[in-house]
Amino acid sequence: MIQHATISDMRRWREEQRHAGRRVGFVPTMGHLHEGHLSLVDRSRDLADATVLSVFVNPTQFGPGEDFDRYPRDLERDRGLAERRGVDCLFVPSVSEMYPRAASVALDPGSLGAHLCGPLRPGHFAGVMLVVLKLLHIVEPDIAVFGRKDAQQAIILGRMVDDLNLEVQLDVAPTVRESDGLALSSRNAYLTPDERRAAAAIPRALDAGHRAYREGATEPETVVAAVRRELENEQLMRVEYIDAVDPETLAPARRVQDRTVLVLAARVGATRLIDNVVLGEGTASDVFLDG
Ligand code: PAF
Repeated sequence: MIQHATISDMRRWREEQRHAGRRVGFVPTMGHLHEGHLSLVDRSRDLADATVLSVFVNPTQFGPGEDFDRYPRDLERDRGLAERRGVDCLFVPSVSEMYPRAASVALDPGSLGAHLCGPLRPGHFAGVMLVVLKLLHIVEPDIAVFGRKDAQQAIILGRMVDDLNLEVQLDVAPTVRESDGLALSSRNAYLTPDERRAAAAIPRALDAGHRAYREGATEPETVVAAVRRELENEQLMRVEYIDAVDPETLAPARRVQDRTVLVLAARVGATRLIDNVVLGEGTASDVFLDG
């Protein structure tokens, strides 16, 4: 595995792959790799000939008072995990390499940013779009793989790629979960043992919502109430939102049906966790990218 820290070295490597006729897959991350990220690497390796994984804790997607400074970082560990999983190129730019000065161009997620995490994290999706667009221009991958846990991010990025006619295929891979169902997330590292126990109520609650749908509920209020009931005795949990949304617009669904996405954000102690389930049998790429 080769490691690059500068944009020019990264581009040179990319050019070599092109000359060798190799399709490049890309997994952008903020590091502190876990099995969820590594499953994206597997997916990239299935779909492409060479895989780039970037590790960059992107300051522009953190708001004031968020966890940019304490976001877990361990490059040596990440390097070992990436190499053992078959990553071909690790791209680890510094903040000054990516942002030699504050960007004056800004991207706007539009109405897709008006729902769910958008109003709660002002500027977050603009920051994600900016860094992902820059990374896509630098790496020029044939395929870029994102995780389904970050449903709103995947949908916004899918729309950005379409709206800007970017020549990249996006893929959204399923969420990897602990044995009790908790979605893997770098932020799980912040949880105390009691908070970790409480956090397991999140996937249980989403399952309860899915069950209500399978048993015939079509009113969003009924499905959301089934989710909420599972969480109401969790003292350590403060729900930020539970919603049943249309995967194309992210607006609240009028009726719950196959492809409706049940989304949830909650603080467990000080840690903010998100998760979702796609109702029915759709795959994440079908639902999040084809709308
Ligand atoms: O999902 C993430 O880890 C980040 O938002 C991403 C896509 C790597 C951009 O910084």
